[in-house]
Amino acid sequence: KGIILAAGAGSRLYPASLPISKILLPVYDKPMIYYPITTLLLAGIDDILIITNPSDINNFKKLLGDGSDLGIKFSYAVQEVPKGIAESFLIAEDFINNEPVALILGDNIFHGFGFSSMLKNVIQKNKGATIFGYLVNDPERFGVVEIDKEQNAISLIEKPQNPKSNYAVTGLYFYDEHVVEYAKTLKPSNRGELEITDLNKIYLEKKALKVEILGRGFAWLDTGTFSSLLDAANFVETIETRQSITISAPEEIAFINGWITAEQLLESAELYGKSPYGEHLKAVAEGKVRY
Ligand code: G1P
Repeated sequence: KGIILAAGAGSRLYPASLPISKILLPVYDKPMIYYPITTLLLAGIDDILIITNPSDINNFKKLLGDGSDLGIKFSYAVQEVPKGIAESFLIAEDFINNEPVALILGDNIFHGFGFSSMLKNVIQKNKGATIFGYLVNDPERFGVVEIDKEQNAISLIEKPQNPKSNYAVTGLYFYDEHVVEYAKTLKPSNRGELEITDLNKIYLEKKALKVEILGRGFAWLDTGTFSSLLDAANFVETIETRQSITISAPEEIAFINGWITAEQLLESAELYGKSPYGEHLKAVAEGKVRY
């Protein structure tokens, strides 16, 4: 099971994100939410809850439907007021149903070779919680994790003024079946939010927090500002043009995972008309894309 948190005002991208959720804005050639969806699909997750703002839920449904085109299940829930990332687990309590769950933030883009096996491995061995550390030049903008030589977490601080390391905590988290129980004990922070960092600290105190490092050359991009949104789009454009492929296409991964047939993939490709995205899906269905 996986949750995509696609709520939040996105006010740093106003006026572009005023009439529509930031998570539906394009990152080069596809809506932003395709990137977190593909991350979950690469992990083998096929039951996904999408949490949106009240005013955006119908747009997400229009784009993604019930997931049957991908051979998976999409369901939807609303976060009435942006009260923090960790509130996702309270909203999703019934969906989670005391089972392990992954959470990804709707504006986080991950791309790198071998990511799928890394994620599957994490799911298999996760006891407690697993987070991902990524070396950045501006750690004060993020949750920051300090790690020892064996990659165990020593400390976790949300947006520290004096970061103890350059490892940002990315917006992808894997939890065991206790996550809802722990989330219920959280108190709002100074900014009035249930902080994901406070939840992760509970696992850290229980010595049940594992940190995986996304290494050199791996791409973790966020899209919180116009400049980072453009950087992400340029990154996608560079790779796609250079290799003449489309990255982060949910239909392609669903096909590779064996969740849809080549015929179903072709049907989806036709929906996208003459767009490069549609052409790519057609090429995949016809066995013309090399892996
Ligand atoms: C949130 C988390 C932070 C994490 C970041 C990743 O920050 O609070 O720990 O590093 O997402 O994108 P926010 O987007 O709320 O500023």
